[in-house]
Amino acid sequence: MKRALITGSSTGFGRDLASALLERGWTVYASLRNSAGREALFAEDRKRFGERLRVLELDVAQAAQREAAARAIEAEGGLDCLVNNAAFGHFGPFELIPEDAWRRQFEVNFFGALFLTRRLLPALRTSRGRILNLSSILGLASFPLSSPYAASKFALEGWSEALYYELAPHGVQVGLVEPGGFRTKFSDNLLVTPAPADSPYAGQSAAYARWREKRAGGAGTPPEVVVRALVRLCEARRIPLRTVVGLDARALDGIGRWLPRNLATGLLSRVYARLMPK
Ligand SMILES: NC(=O)c1ccc[n+]([C@@H]2O[C@H](COP(=O)([O-])OP(=O)(O)OC[C@H]3O[C@@H](n4cnc5c(N)ncnc54)[C@H](OP(=O)(O)O)[C@@H]3O)[C@@H](O)[C@H]2O)c1
Repeated sequence: MKRALITGSSTGFGRDLASALLERGWTVYASLRNSAGREALFAEDRKRFGERLRVLELDVAQAAQREAAARAIEAEGGLDCLVNNAAFGHFGPFELIPEDAWRRQFEVNFFGALFLTRRLLPALRTSRGRILNLSSILGLASFPLSSPYAASKFALEGWSEALYYELAPHGVQVGLVEPGGFRTKFSDNLLVTPAPADSPYAGQSAAYARWREKRAGGAGTPPEVVVRALVRLCEARRIPLRTVVGLDARALDGIGRWLPRNLATGLLSRVYARLMPK
């Protein structure tokens, strides 16, 4: 019987992955922050899968909660797969985003995953397990007004790539998942630093807000595609370093990979200047 820890299991990919793995016989540590009062989220799975579902309190940015979760898992025999999924997006003009917001973005999206992984590595080494890090196509290619989120995901990419090679001799596999836009709570949960009307970034911010509005209310692909890819990565014998999921992500990734670098940036720079003019 395999055991997985998923962070950010209250909604979106994390929530659906928890059910999908339970369905396939895994023991799942579904972790979430502020778990008190959110028991109903797992009521159905609890009825169906009983003790194979363990719900853990885990704000990934809280060292004490990371430690408590790791101890609970070790006490029950260890871990085969860690899915670092918890994250949120902070968007807006770089110049206007306060320092504490930058730090918070990295505390959750990057350091949360990094220090949880480090704490659980001995258990993963013992099981010759794996680490799946939810990055984003914005971890491979950024766009205007995405700098905090994109930077946190680029950091996740560099760290994961180093681990991929570093942990291979220890039998621990590492995979990055790079989704494009999918219909989860991500858009509802993201933070946007607005630009006041007299700001030099007012035009770009307004264009970005219009674009987001168009995508709100059901636009985007349903999350099952990502969840299926994640299940495959949990169960496959060998996993690749990067798995790009979604047509938009594949297109953007393709531009970066197949066009000469300067041609790709020149092309994207013209596209973004039209989409988000000053
Ligand atoms: N949906 C997309 O289009 C998309 C595209 C590319 C990449 N991704 C990535 O996919 C992953 C999952 O996102 P999603 O689309 O499923 O979004 P989501 O529905 O907003 O889910 C994000 C989850 O992260 C949790 N979370 C946020 N901060 C946390 C913290 N400090 N500690 C623990 N949990 C925390 C949220 O919990 P609360 O309910 O408590 O807020 C929620 O369960 C993220 O890494 C995201 O960057 C998503």
